[in-house]
Amino acid sequence: MADPAPLPTAELHLHIEGTLEPELALSLAARNRVPLRFAGLDELRRAYDFRDLQSFLDLYYELTAVLRQPQDYTDLAEAYLARAAAQGVRHAEVFFDPQAHLARGVPLEAVLEGLDEACRGGEERHGVTVRLIACFLRDRDPAEAEKLLPRLLPYRDLVIGVGLDSAELGRPPELFERVFARAADEGLRRVAHAGEEGPPDYVRSALDRLGVERIDHGIRSLEDDALVARLREEQVPLTVCPLSNVALRCVHRLVEHPLRRMLDEGLVATVNSDDPAYFGGYLHDNVVAASRALGLTPEHRRRLAENSFRASFLPEADKAQHL
Ligand code: ADE
Ligand code: ZN
Repeated sequence: MADPAPLPTAELHLHIEGTLEPELALSLAARNRVPLRFAGLDELRRAYDFRDLQSFLDLYYELTAVLRQPQDYTDLAEAYLARAAAQGVRHAEVFFDPQAHLARGVPLEAVLEGLDEACRGGEERHGVTVRLIACFLRDRDPAEAEKLLPRLLPYRDLVIGVGLDSAELGRPPELFERVFARAADEGLRRVAHAGEEGPPDYVRSALDRLGVERIDHGIRSLEDDALVARLREEQVPLTVCPLSNVALRCVHRLVEHPLRRMLDEGLVATVNSDDPAYFGGYLHDNVVAASRALGLTPEHRRRLAENSFRASFLPEADKAQHL
């Protein structure tokens, strides 16, 4: 059967650092004279084989070392927007990891100047509106996140919210309760990765202690019937990333992925690409692969697209234009 055509969709779970294709990584390494341990493209590509979230994060942080100048961030985001637009993306709420750049001596101003350049032209050049969500790294000291938050506030036209990502196990959401409370006081939107590798209780804690408005991943919620009932009742959006979950072995095989069960249980699931350069596909590639493996129907795909705009942080009037 022919692949379904892409539907206009909002991408809500996409790490800009995770769109660094190996070719661009090597060309930025050369441009910035950053030594990498890979002899060439083939050797680099062979490193894209992960055991779990941590083994992926090790490579992801290693390759971010090639990003140094505002232009690098512009090139990275431009390349993502071109690919995303071709896959039906019309609005993107894009994660970035400020601490991963600050820790290497790249100023926040350089990161945001570069991203802003690409994002501002996103609508005109690609028909994609873009906002950013700054993620705190949960495997670093929460005090560092608390110091970072006020530095994000001058950029709030572009940076509309905060998230929580990186290595999940042993780093429960409540460690970040204070910085999320401050973000709420500032009127920022809040999301968190939870239930990717971590247990269902982390999903509960993200909702109750961080006050998040969406859960990123959330796939392990399905292990807990009471939590599923709550997610359905409260219509909490879940930003699901099927190819990522298989690549990081959170789900054994795509045919076992819970996406279809989530939809059939009445949960507000959306499909997203997470780190597409690492996991083998952009947004519509995820929809196509999940459709094949799980037998998703046109009605499932229509709901996924509709859920994406409903779950977005677009103003209601803008959402209505997409629905
Ligand atoms: N950072 C980039 N991708 C991530 C993922 N899938 N989970 C946690 N942190 C991440
Ligand atoms: Zn993610």
